[in-house]
Amino acid sequence: MAPAESKLLLTDRAISSSNHVPSNYIRPVGDRPNLLDVESSTSVPLIDLHGLLGPARSDVIKEIGSACRTDGFFMVKNHGIPEEVVREMLRVAREFFHLPEAERLKCYSDDPSRTTRLSTSFNVRTEKVSNWRDFLRLHCYPLEDFIREWPCNPPDFKQVVGEYSKHARALAVRLLEGISESLGLERDHMVKAMGKQAQHMAINYYPPCPQPELTYGLPGHKDPNAITVLLPDGVSGLQVLRGQKWVAVEPVPNALIINMGDQIQVLSNDRYKSVLHRVIVNNKSERISVPTFYCPSPDAVIEPAEALVDDDHPLRYRSFTYGEYYEKFWNRELLSASCLDLFKASQ
Ligand code: OGA
Ligand code: NI
Repeated sequence: MAPAESKLLLTDRAISSSNHVPSNYIRPVGDRPNLLDVESSTSVPLIDLHGLLGPARSDVIKEIGSACRTDGFFMVKNHGIPEEVVREMLRVAREFFHLPEAERLKCYSDDPSRTTRLSTSFNVRTEKVSNWRDFLRLHCYPLEDFIREWPCNPPDFKQVVGEYSKHARALAVRLLEGISESLGLERDHMVKAMGKQAQHMAINYYPPCPQPELTYGLPGHKDPNAITVLLPDGVSGLQVLRGQKWVAVEPVPNALIINMGDQIQVLSNDRYKSVLHRVIVNNKSERISVPTFYCPSPDAVIEPAEALVDDDHPLRYRSFTYGEYYEKFWNRELLSASCLDLFKASQ
């Protein structure tokens, strides 16, 4: 067998490694997750979306607005994605990462511009310390442009993931409509701002880790896209920064986790915040999560909504294309550095 260090994927390294994490995963002392210093008595708001379709719509919109302003993160139930579709999505995700190494490696690439790729950590080309994660990243919209590239194994991968991604997009659109209304904008403002729109999915796989106190599944970061719909598998690990404190977001059965990305912060002229979040790992069980990143198409021009710029709220960002933003996101050395600072309006 090849030595563990020569393996491309963490999954195959972790299996053959001992009870220590390899040195390239160890964070400097000041940058480790303090696993005991975490707020677990509160979580992020849980919003029932059932009312969105009826006379209670304006109440639900208010709840969404308040969650976006104060937390940037919330959970949703009665979100419209059938339980069976969610269960199947997690099943094929798990089956994919349990395939033999040679089968998985057919999708491997370290080039972030590839539209379908399996990789590890975050960006192995730029980072100094590795993260305890493998991931499969797929473009999902328009579906017919990309589904051909997706893995052929498990045999029903394309069908199951395609079905889930259509539902996840519909949910993202409904949420963006609610978010637009909560800001006093036309219902379709945010979706129109996305141009032709795009949608990416990651299937994150975090193997059990012998020393979770030394490393991260993902270190603190903000998502670059507009809105993220995250499907968790029931294992804890996600934490959100509130004030100075990390808050654990414990999975709730049948609920999905929603967070604002940088583009909503820009479009809302800072009314809503894209919030730092991170993933810690554990030494007992693997963890799978499936974020759907709903985003503008690369040529879409992003700028704060005119109606949200006034004397009390001066223009915070200059116009840019999402393509320009996204390029900066992947090519930073430090994942925790916010890209938003690079696009501030000149004073
Ligand atoms: C991400 C992310 C959270 C998780 O992939 O951007 O924040 O729980 N994932 O895996
Ligand atoms: Ni994220």
